[in-house]
Amino acid sequence: MDIMRDNRIIMDTLAPDVAKQAAGIRAAEMVEDGMVIGLGTGSTVLFAMQQLSREIREGLRISGVPTSFQAAMRARELGIPLTTLDDHPVLDLAIDGADQVDPVFRVIKGRGAAQLREKCVAAAAGRFIIVADPGKIVRVLDAAVPLEVLPFAVTPVLSALCGLGGKPVLREGQKKDGPVITDNGNMVIDCRFGVIPRPEQLELALTTIPGVLSCGIFSGFTEKTTVIVGDIAGARVLTR
Ligand code: A5P
Repeated sequence: MDIMRDNRIIMDTLAPDVAKQAAGIRAAEMVEDGMVIGLGTGSTVLFAMQQLSREIREGLRISGVPTSFQAAMRARELGIPLTTLDDHPVLDLAIDGADQVDPVFRVIKGRGAAQLREKCVAAAAGRFIIVADPGKIVRVLDAAVPLEVLPFAVTPVLSALCGLGGKPVLREGQKKDGPVITDNGNMVIDCRFGVIPRPEQLELALTTIPGVLSCGIFSGFTEKTTVIVGDIAGARVLTR
């Protein structure tokens, strides 16, 4: 039975890794021979990539566009052939994780600082498959919103975010002094707004700040999004 804890809808009591693995394996089942797919970043999508790797060894022919250095390195290790958006500007589907998912499939992404390329890949994909553990499913988005920001414009962007009522923090590295530098050579600001009642409006406001290259709110892909949540019976495919 689903229970409500704070803003989170906890669907079961599985350990997150078991849930992530179930979601990843179910997502891999949606990949068909000959597809070109987006390869997301993070701990959940890894399980889908591992399953695809097993199927490739049994004859599945696919190629993937990686959303980050991490995704590209993993794909190489796992034997998943890589391609680019230049060669394949239209993808069959993309599989990716999320930090939060609301009931109509608006999501917040970017814990791993990959949301700029992730959004490009999601936009190119015919279907957007989100894989998640139950702790990601919320009634209302309220996580900090990651923003990829041009280093040249960090200070004015911080001011603009305060002007929108946010509480911005420049993301600092771990095992690296100073700010996190993304795969694209930019910085990351995590900005808290509390509860986000109108994600589309906030995404638009954030992405129109000069110097903001991408915002971790993904509100424009709901029509083509499928959410797979790891579950005790394997995985649940959520419908809106
Ligand atoms: C990468 O920047 C993120 O968008 C991840 O896809 C997201 O944070 C989900 O990651 P996990 O699957 O590790 O929770």
